[in-house]
Amino acid sequence: MTQFSRTGRLVGVGVGPGDPRHLTLKAIDALSGADRVVAPSTAPDAVGRAEAILRQAMPELKIDRLVFNMASDGQPGGKHARESSHRKAAEHLLGWLDAGETIAFATLGDPNLYSTFSSLASAVNALRPGTLITTIPGITAFQDLASRTGTVLLDGTQSLTLVTALDGPRAVEAALRDPSRALVVYKGGRYLSAIRLLLEESGRLEGAVAGELLGLPGERVGDLGELASSGPAAYLVTVIVPPGPDRT
Ligand SMILES: C[S@@+](CC[C@H](N)C(=O)[O-])C[C@H]1O[C@@H](n2cnc3c(N)ncnc32)[C@H](O)[C@@H]1O
Repeated sequence: MTQFSRTGRLVGVGVGPGDPRHLTLKAIDALSGADRVVAPSTAPDAVGRAEAILRQAMPELKIDRLVFNMASDGQPGGKHARESSHRKAAEHLLGWLDAGETIAFATLGDPNLYSTFSSLASAVNALRPGTLITTIPGITAFQDLASRTGTVLLDGTQSLTLVTALDGPRAVEAALRDPSRALVVYKGGRYLSAIRLLLEESGRLEGAVAGELLGLPGERVGDLGELASSGPAAYLVTVIVPPGPDRT
C-alpha cells in the first residue's frame, strides 16, 4: 500500500487580481503556514503575476516557481502542450508531497475560477489519488472592477452570465440575447472593439465598464466605450455589462 499521499497537502490560494491589499487574512495564514509556497510562471527566470503580488504583500516569503505552458486551445498543439505542462508541474510537486509537505499554490484572483490551479489539482490527483487538496478563496477581477467603477453587478432577482472571449466574441453575442442577465467577459482583450460593437448594436453599451491590468502597472479602468477605442487590450482585461434597462 502506498504511504506517500497520507500527509502531503496542496492548497490553492487566491491572491486577488493585482493590488496586494486584496490578499485576505486567510490567504496570508495559509501562505505563511505552508512548508512551501509555489507560484506559476512562464519560464524559470520570469516573475509571474501571483508571485509579483506576493513579493509586495509578503516580501519575506520564499517562493518556488512552477513553470507552465500557457498556450490556448486555439493554438496548434496548444491543448496537448498545456496538459503535458500541467502533468510535469504536478510531477515536480510529488517529492515534496510525498515528504509530507503542505504546499500553497498562489494563483491570481480566485483558485476556483479559470485558474491553472484546477488543472494542476487534477494532475496531482491523477498521480497521487487521495492527496488532500483544498482552496482559499480570492477576490476576483470582476469583483474588483465592480467596486472600482461603482457598478452594482446584480440586484433583486437578477442573474449573471460569465463568459470568456479568448478566441472571439461568439459567447458574448449569445449571452446578449438575454437582456435580463448581467454579463462578465474574461479573456477578451484582443476582441475589445468587437465586444464594444456588439454592445452598441444591442443597446447595452451604456453602463458597460472595463478594467485592464487591475491593480498592476499599466492599469486602465473606465467606460468600455473609451477603453475599446484605443485598440486591443492586454490579456488581463475584464468587462462588466449590467442587465438591460428596467430588468430588476
Ligand atoms: C486565467 S483567468 C484568471 C481569473 C481569476 N482566477 C479570477 O478569479 O479572476 C484570466 C482572466 O481573468 C481576468 N483578470 C484576472 N486578473 C485581472 C486583472 N488584474 N485585471 C483585469 N482582468 C483580470 C481577465 O479577464 C483575464 O483574461
